[in-house]
Amino acid sequence: MTEATPKHISVMLNESVDELITNPDGFYLDGTFGRGGHSRLILSRLQQGKLLGFDKDPVAIEYGEALQREDERFHIVQDSFANMTEHITNALGESGRVDGILMDLGVSSPQLDDAERGFSFMNDGPLDMRMNPSKGESAAQWLAHVKEQELADVMYQYGEERFSRRIARAICEYRSHTPILTTLQLAKIVADANPAWEKGKNPATRAFQGIRIFINNELKDLEIGLEAAANALKVGGRLVVISFHSLEDRIVKRFMKTLSKGPDLPRHLPIQNAHLDIKFKTVGKALKPSKSEVNDNVRSRSAVMRVLERIRD
Ligand SMILES: C[S@@+](CC[C@H](N)C(=O)[O-])C[C@H]1O[C@@H](n2cnc3c(N)ncnc32)[C@H](O)[C@@H]1O
Repeated sequence: MTEATPKHISVMLNESVDELITNPDGFYLDGTFGRGGHSRLILSRLQQGKLLGFDKDPVAIEYGEALQREDERFHIVQDSFANMTEHITNALGESGRVDGILMDLGVSSPQLDDAERGFSFMNDGPLDMRMNPSKGESAAQWLAHVKEQELADVMYQYGEERFSRRIARAICEYRSHTPILTTLQLAKIVADANPAWEKGKNPATRAFQGIRIFINNELKDLEIGLEAAANALKVGGRLVVISFHSLEDRIVKRFMKTLSKGPDLPRHLPIQNAHLDIKFKTVGKALKPSKSEVNDNVRSRSAVMRVLERIRD
């Protein structure tokens, strides 16, 4: 938490908080506290309301603890938002429901910019990539033993890397004579094995994204977290999700569509909306950041925000 700590610029800050708050005295969750930009704005809009923040990252938790000391309406926990049900029950009891949940997915700028965290293919650091470095295997530990086929699948499914097989082969060949321990070592192996560099994109982007998503269990956490969030909402309560790549957004979009319109069924089946017992609606369309936000913060360019509201129990 020093002056030199890289900053995070909150994405779609006003848009997301405007959609989230429906009751200034309600109970809210920030599933992805980061540096607390969204949390601070939420608190500024609450009166008697309370906010529970989550993050996996120990540095984010330090920032959360500082905010907790400043504002007694706020409490932070170091856990995945996938486990929110347990924390909601602790705070509000068995039948406790919440007024709003925000998820601003993925990694924060400080995680990417601090080479020591091992997420960056631009700056050399230990190949770690864990949001919570005290849980699970680091990327280096995993790469030391993963089977070539599984590695290729991870880069293909989570990184949408077309050359995943070639890259996996190159990684496994390299590790047979030298351990892969740093981010630039991995970035170079991937770049050398990648036959078609995309314009304006580092050739290691997709492989790093795939490995990072796998190491942090990001898409599984998202699926579980969305389900838990929908179950936790009061009538009138809202879930606001900001995603940053197509894999995340596809999961969020499908989830919200199924809850608000019912599952995709063959058209000829004699099922009416009333039979589907729809309990949610989507609010507005998927929203992207304004041009001026993208100009000011290039990392916001791929953001998409979606909002779901519970309309009945
Ligand atoms: C994009 S940043 C959020 C930034 C934050 N909204 C702000 O304004 O500072 C995402 C944060 O969510 C955390 N995170 C990602 N997945 C998580 C999960 N499943 N559970 C809890 N925290 C998570 C990351 O560690 C990171 O700090």
